Amino acid sequence: MLARIREDIRAVKERDPAATSTLSVLINYPGLHALWAHRVNHWLWRHGRRGLARYLSQVTRWLTGIEIHPGATIGARFFIDHGMGVVIGETTVIGDDVTLYQGVTLGGTGKETGKRHPTLEDCVVVGVGSAVLGNITVGRGSKVGAGAVVIEDVPPNSTAVGIPGRVVVRAGERVEAIDLHHEDLPDPVVEMFTSLTRRIDRLERRLARDEGLSEELGEPTFPNGSPTTSESIPEEAPRPSTSRKNAPAAD
Ligand SMILES: CC(C)(COP(=O)(O)OP(=O)(O)OC[C@H]1O[C@@H](n2cnc3c(N)ncnc32)[C@H](O)[C@@H]1OP(=O)(O)O)[C@@H](O)C(=O)NCCC(=O)NCCS
Repeated sequence: MLARIREDIRAVKERDPAATSTLSVLINYPGLHALWAHRVNHWLWRHGRRGLARYLSQVTRWLTGIEIHPGATIGARFFIDHGMGVVIGETTVIGDDVTLYQGVTLGGTGKETGKRHPTLEDCVVVGVGSAVLGNITVGRGSKVGAGAVVIEDVPPNSTAVGIPGRVVVRAGERVEAIDLHHEDLPDPVVEMFTSLTRRIDRLERRLARDEGLSEELGEPTFPNGSPTTSESIPEEAPRPSTSRKNAPAAD
């Protein structure tokens, strides 16, 4: 047990640059006090003294501002920095070397029963004021940004931020904010030919109208093979007939 306490104190010193001495850690870290109280409460919970365990967890909350349900499972070297306003639900499972900051909620969505609180795998960090809700898993080594509300699984070694939490870093790599749909990219060559074909068609029609041309002009086609029907081309002026039969008689 002493070894465990030493390990807890070492974890605080490693993760908080403000932790200068063992005495200071023993006195000034409510996260540590809440963790030690939880170990007693969890033992009571597992040994059928559930009423007493709940009561003592509330006493701990009055003293530290940290509410840990005695049913929660917590691994080694757990560290809650500052602590005030932290809530950890009954079916939460926390791995080793996990860090929480103040105002974090590991709670339920209110829609699930049974295992309804999150699982945080080893080495997860949850930033100040965040909520991780529901029976979801935050993968090993992942971070939840300050102020996030995470309601879906976070893969290992990732970073989730925002409301609702979205993964912005996955396996150490930035996740592109813009999803490039390569099939939708414009083809500049086709676009240029389409534009040229339209202009030629317009000019031919203007010529036919101005000069009274009566030859068969035929329907030009776009490079992709689709016909440039008069419906597909904006009309500038009424198009005269291009057939010889309907051409006006020459003087
Ligand atoms: C999320 C965090 C851990 C940084 O993780 P990271 O993997 O290094 O991520 P990055 O800093 O590379 O940021 C990735 C993107 O998320 C954004 N981001 C970072 N933290 C964010 C947050 N809390 N909320 C919203 N967006 C955030 C960044 O601006 C960046 O966006 P961009 O790609 O458009 O530039 C950190 O920003 C954080 O929130 N830490 C909490 C610390 C804390 O609670 N301290 C309390 C001390 S009392």
